[in-house]
Amino acid sequence: MRRTQVVDALNAQSPAAELKVCGWVRTRRDSKGFSFLELNDGSCLNNIQVIVDETVPTYPVIKDVNTGASVEILGELVESPGKGQKWEIRCTELKLLGVADAETFPLQKKRHSDEFLRTIAHLRPRTNKYGAAFRIRSEAAYAIHTFYRERGFFYVHTPILTGSDCEGAGEMFRVTTLPVEGAQKPESGDFFENDFFGRESNLTVSGQLEAELLAMGLGKVYTFGPTFRAENSNTPRHAAEFWMIEPEVAFADIHDDMDLGEEMTKYVVKHVMEHCADDLNLFASFVDKELMGRLETLVKEPFARVTYTEAIDILLAAKKDWEYPVTWGCDLQTEHERYLAEEHFRKPVIVRDYPKEIKAFYMRLNEDGKTVAAMDVLVPRIGELIGGSQREERLDVLESRIREMGQNTEDYWWYLDTRRFGTVPHAGFGMGFERLLMMLTGITNIRDVIPFPRTPNNIEF
Ligand code: 4AD
Ligand code: MG
Repeated sequence: MRRTQVVDALNAQSPAAELKVCGWVRTRRDSKGFSFLELNDGSCLNNIQVIVDETVPTYPVIKDVNTGASVEILGELVESPGKGQKWEIRCTELKLLGVADAETFPLQKKRHSDEFLRTIAHLRPRTNKYGAAFRIRSEAAYAIHTFYRERGFFYVHTPILTGSDCEGAGEMFRVTTLPVEGAQKPESGDFFENDFFGRESNLTVSGQLEAELLAMGLGKVYTFGPTFRAENSNTPRHAAEFWMIEPEVAFADIHDDMDLGEEMTKYVVKHVMEHCADDLNLFASFVDKELMGRLETLVKEPFARVTYTEAIDILLAAKKDWEYPVTWGCDLQTEHERYLAEEHFRKPVIVRDYPKEIKAFYMRLNEDGKTVAAMDVLVPRIGELIGGSQREERLDVLESRIREMGQNTEDYWWYLDTRRFGTVPHAGFGMGFERLLMMLTGITNIRDVIPFPRTPNNIEF
């Protein structure tokens, strides 16, 4: 017999004479001659109640059906006389699939701290909170693909192994097959001549440069894949491995880019609010009481939009005791970004036209010669959710920007070719998927929205 998922059993329209459900036992309560099991199979937040009585042939095994054990249940779906649930299962056959020793199984029926649960990331998908987080993660990914598909974008795959540094920030993980010990620099030439690719190679920090090449042929594309950064910042918002969504649009400028970022953010939030109500409600009840209000504002109200220069004026007028002092030309830190979104505008804000010195070489130089057409979407509680820009499409300006940033134009010959042949204005951005999930759930640490987080000194599992 085919297994019925708990979510379908709970949403049944009518009773069923026979069904099979499988899952992990959350709790067992014993009475004289029968037991209640709360069974969860991960398909939704709620458990289904199962009644096993002594007429079930395997009833004696019930004493080993502890929290964490896995079982297969055959039974009848009947209306539940109990409060808070419509259906329950009267078990006719019980099979204990796997025991979980009550002394050693770490997930007992109490609330555990996030810190503790990180040390058992292999088991935490079985808790309410992480089950909900990872179901929301799945639904948000689905919404992103739907959003782009509905708008005629193509989903492209950009390389994970790369020979270039998109952000020029030098925060890359090296990829090599050279022996760790005794690696010798050749007498003449490059250290990496003997390496797998015959030159230095790394894990990608962004798929943008290749996405631009694809947009120059396909018009509107997006990537959605893993990216890697070796920045040694042990913060609640940075992971060494994270997923990024990067749309790239030909014949578009910075304003189109901001519109797309705002529209996409709203679409995904709305979709998750509609399709993950139970899971979201868990976060709204236990993690962040202001979550729903914030998400509703986000969907309903237009994002604020200011220039970097205006943002600096707002920060200066705030007269706060900043950890990082504010002056025109400084990079915005999380404390500044959060002040703008959380306290000043009290909703998402898009800041554009940043000083060129603090941004990457590929951003389009503005008429003032001092700023570039960059835009960041900042949101309450998190700070930067999206970073993007209109790209420099003028060959000569781009070449001199590459040189200015201390890089070699030869390394980018293929990138520059798109400006040499049929160049067009174009724009794109990158949204950190985990940052989006933090915003959606109210979870404050990036380690808790990614199943197996990679951060400095942490690569377990
Ligand atoms: O602002 P970033 O560095 O922009 C880029 O990489 C561009 N090439 C994107 C583009 O225009 N196609 O990163 C984009 C976003 C950030 O806004 C942030 O949400 C997220 O990626 N991000 C991180 N998320 C988690 N951990 C990290 N270490 C992150 N670094 C950036
Ligand atoms: Mg950025």
